[in-house]
Amino acid sequence: MATGYAPQTKGAVSPLRPVPSSIPRPEYVGKAASARWTAGDVHSPETIERIRVAGRIAAQALEEVGRHVAPGVTTDELDRIGHEFILDHDAYPSTLGYPGAAGRPPFPKALCSSVNEVICHGIPDSTVVRDGDVVKIDITAFKDGVHGDNCGTFIAGEDVHGASELVEVAREATMRGIKAALPGRAVNVIGRVIEKYAARHGFESVRDYTGHGVGPAFHSGLVIPHYDAAPRHDDEIVPGMVFTVEPMIVAGSQENEEWDDGWTVVTRDGSLVAQFEHTIVVTEDGPEVLTIP
Ligand code: MF3
Ligand code: CO
Ligand code: CO
Repeated sequence: MATGYAPQTKGAVSPLRPVPSSIPRPEYVGKAASARWTAGDVHSPETIERIRVAGRIAAQALEEVGRHVAPGVTTDELDRIGHEFILDHDAYPSTLGYPGAAGRPPFPKALCSSVNEVICHGIPDSTVVRDGDVVKIDITAFKDGVHGDNCGTFIAGEDVHGASELVEVAREATMRGIKAALPGRAVNVIGRVIEKYAARHGFESVRDYTGHGVGPAFHSGLVIPHYDAAPRHDDEIVPGMVFTVEPMIVAGSQENEEWDDGWTVVTRDGSLVAQFEHTIVVTEDGPEVLTIP
């Protein structure tokens, strides 16, 4: 497929940014793997209020980083802005030190910056953002023992690659998926709605990376597919459940590969990707977004 933009390449990763010892860390920091979460995905009103606070910090951090997405900025500078914003709110950036797959290094930064054909988990580095780049920022705050997780897509400068339809379809697919999360349904209804909406516009919804239960655990074990996974993933949606919806929508083929950094995932055909993510809670009346600034 015609691209018109240079492929992403690995840049230089800056030294670890410090976090004051006064800020509590999630349990996994400094460990080879996260502890297994066994307490489920339905939370008390008190826990949900804490997730709302963490979600608001994450959403405000996303806004702040998004304001700085422009041609000429490095993804490392975007990380610095997100890192400092989260610390200034007495929270910990959940991705910093998050354990990787066996034998792989932990994630080294306060956010994921995934540019153009990078589907997800891009590592902030010396890469310079160019005019028209499709920049996904995924940032998570850990505060008071819980995580709030969100992601947004920003086009740097002028939309020279004609990515705005892709971005708007990803935004709308996310909101339609969220609205489908009604009590009594199976979680696989969410991805069915997302995949259908993307396909109507000629786009694919990535199957290999999913939403997840979130709260006291960053990734609880509950999986929220962004495609029609029925009859699998038939967990019943119930009031008090908290999870993310975070579809990655691709202009071309979703076939993907991971770089040898153990994190960065790219489309094989180099096609552009857009993503949005919210942390939501299900109430008796339906879904409610917790990642609101
Ligand atoms: N925030 C990402 C998500 O939506 C998590 C990325 S894990 C990382 O689940 F280590 F890559 F940061
Ligand atoms: Co995220
Ligand atoms: Co997430």
